[in-house]
Amino acid sequence: MSEVTLKDLVVIITGAGGGLGKQYALSFGARGAKVVVNDLGGTLGGSGTSTKAADLVVEEIVKNGGQAVANYDNVVTNPEGIVKTAVDTFGSVHVLINNAGILKDSSFKNMSEKDFQAVLDVHLNGAFRLTKLCWPIFRDQRFGRVIMTTSPAGLYGNFGQTNYSAAKLGLVGLAETLAREGAKYNIKVNAIAPLAKSRMTETVMPPDVLQRLLPEKVAPLVLYLSSVDCDCSGSIFEVAAGLFAQIRWERSEGALFKPDESFTPEAILNRYPEITDFENPQHPTQLNDYNRIIEQSSKLPANDQGSTKITSLKDKVV
Ligand code: NAI
Repeated sequence: MSEVTLKDLVVIITGAGGGLGKQYALSFGARGAKVVVNDLGGTLGGSGTSTKAADLVVEEIVKNGGQAVANYDNVVTNPEGIVKTAVDTFGSVHVLINNAGILKDSSFKNMSEKDFQAVLDVHLNGAFRLTKLCWPIFRDQRFGRVIMTTSPAGLYGNFGQTNYSAAKLGLVGLAETLAREGAKYNIKVNAIAPLAKSRMTETVMPPDVLQRLLPEKVAPLVLYLSSVDCDCSGSIFEVAAGLFAQIRWERSEGALFKPDESFTPEAILNRYPEITDFENPQHPTQLNDYNRIIEQSSKLPANDQGSTKITSLKDKVV
């Protein structure tokens, strides 16, 4: 089996004082990477600070013969400090794992703008700022790997997590576009949606399930995506309990409408089953080729779409 190369890569892992980030840090350290263990040491809700979380992880890596340095900066307010620690200690940055996160769950009815903003700040804006600082370094050295940590809650939605799911899906868009912009500089940007035992999940899942969701089962994918050997970019992976799977967009074949007077809500209602039929799905990986669609639709024969008049849409369209 070929070996995945991580030795001497300088890796920044945000929020690496506990949970998933800690496991990534230990795994990178064991593989000869130079690890910046960032963590401000706050609570799950984002309050308070402590140097202890990051220090303990660094201690463990060094005890096992690895190289690591602690950093306690907030990804939102001082991302510069994190990059500085990497460059001052190890000379560069090759891999950025945007992992730091907080939760401020509540139903949308009770969600304050402050809590919405705070979660977006740490997950999305923190990742943006740090990636922005690493980007010129990656471009100059023609090498960079970025992992965005999204979530099943971002991909599918989850009750009580409007702030979190909005931030997490934002990270997917960020990864998809950065993958394009980084392609010619050998910068690869991917997103992972993990599920794992940590303080984030400890109170919402039973202990026997949590035992099957150890962060050790997530780390191998993160290490692969960070490596010299990684060939993919702009991809989304779901990873939990031993399952490693890729997520992609799926579009129904759809209904192509003739550009005539049939552009009515009734036409949509009539052809709704066709619009939502996934029998022959497509898997788009880039912006639509609208010229092709316009050309195809202008060649369509006349049809009777929209000929059925509906007096009330109220009870029919959801
Ligand atoms: P965790 O709470 O153990 O780890 C998050 C770490 O980020 C904490 O150590 C915290 O101190 C640190 N942190 C928070 N705000 C920070 C800031 N502004 N600057 C620097 N560090 C900060 O939680 P876990 O589960 O390990 O989460 C890691 C990532 O994985 C998060 O982005 C989370 O949203 C994501 N995730 C976790 C899932 C799970 O099942 N555990 C599911 C889906 C996504």
